[in-house]
Amino acid sequence: METIFVKTGTTLASQIYNCPDADPVPALDAILAGYDRVYAVADSLAAEKCPCAGKIVEHLSSKGCPIFGINASEAEKSMDTVLAIASFLMEQGADRDALVLAIGGGITTDMTGFAASIYKRGVRFAFFPTTLLSQVDAAIGGKTGVNFLNYKNILGVIRQPEFTFLSPSVLLSLPKEDLLCGCAEMLKTFIIQDDGNYQKAVSLFSALHQGVHLSSLLSEISALVGASARVKAGVVSRDQFEKGERRNLNLGHTFAHAMESLAMENNIHLPHGLAVGIGTVLAAKCADSLGLSDGSLERRLRTDFNACGLPVDCPFPLENLAPAMYKDKKAAGKKVHFILPEGIGKVVVRDMTPEEAVELIG
Ligand SMILES: NC(=O)c1ccc[n+]([C@@H]2O[C@H](COP(=O)([O-])OP(=O)(O)OC[C@H]3O[C@@H](n4cnc5c(N)ncnc54)[C@H](O)[C@@H]3O)[C@@H](O)[C@H]2O)c1
Repeated sequence: METIFVKTGTTLASQIYNCPDADPVPALDAILAGYDRVYAVADSLAAEKCPCAGKIVEHLSSKGCPIFGINASEAEKSMDTVLAIASFLMEQGADRDALVLAIGGGITTDMTGFAASIYKRGVRFAFFPTTLLSQVDAAIGGKTGVNFLNYKNILGVIRQPEFTFLSPSVLLSLPKEDLLCGCAEMLKTFIIQDDGNYQKAVSLFSALHQGVHLSSLLSEISALVGASARVKAGVVSRDQFEKGERRNLNLGHTFAHAMESLAMENNIHLPHGLAVGIGTVLAAKCADSLGLSDGSLERRLRTDFNACGLPVDCPFPLENLAPAMYKDKKAAGKKVHFILPEGIGKVVVRDMTPEEAVELIG
């Protein structure tokens, strides 16, 4: 089993275990044996739909680990649920030596990490992510939080998990759209830092889109998840609090957040990962227009993303994007940091107003 380290300065902040085993229970058990008191917060639907997550919940329960089930929806990604997790920990008598293990996708890991971070001024937590998106993104890097007043992730802290345990087996029950969301975040990561993985990911997800069964590709996916986790762990180790390099991970996100906010206003279904994919294509168009790339990057990404089954066109009139971008919490003043790809494996930051960016893609 590969171990990836997140180090902040000289301190070991977090470990990521990439476990290729079909049954991850023994390996997870061995790690949990190092903790005296484990409490679990599990996405009830994931535990029901995903045999691997269900097996872990059952196993922990049989060992006497208290388990709290939650509904993983954006509407319930709230302080109310965080307080419910805190109540559960109180009722169970969880003390400062507790380890709180989240089992679920990004909603579950974000909320559990936040609840553990404020419970008794902070107890330890760990993640068993059950979606591809949470394996390559949400469960790595320590950003935790909840939605508040219609703003996504506006309350939260950056605090590292003890460990994140990656198992490809959970992916077998994942709906296609959730796989695609993770695929988009993974491609985004490899556009930031490639090492040959971008093309491997495109080939793999194209094969999946063409109907090759996921079970026959699990070990290749596991290797790519590990590679993607290594890139993010490296970036977070160098810039935990997003003062510089970590901003690169927001490639495609300024456009994506604008599209997500328009989707919400118009009651249109647009999951974050898919918005990130479209946003990355738009960022490539900006780069092409500014002469930062070879001029054909947008075309290449469109072809590759399409082949993987990802949508590539903005579902809203482009002129609506600029006003929506000012709601992005990452916008500082009027100029916004846009992360633009110069090619596969290299990005730059450009400060522009949303209007300037939209003109480039118009
Ligand atoms: N902290 C971060 O750095 C960060 C980064 C990216 C996204 N996020 C957050 O992550 C959230 C999205 O997370 P997500 O896309 O991982 O999923 P999710 O937690 O929203 O879950 C998606 C759906 O899949 C179900 N599910 C989960 N695992 C399953 C499985 N193995 N089989 C079948 N169904 C399963 C869930 O019950 C849910 O209905 C957003 O709230 C976003 O803000 C956080």
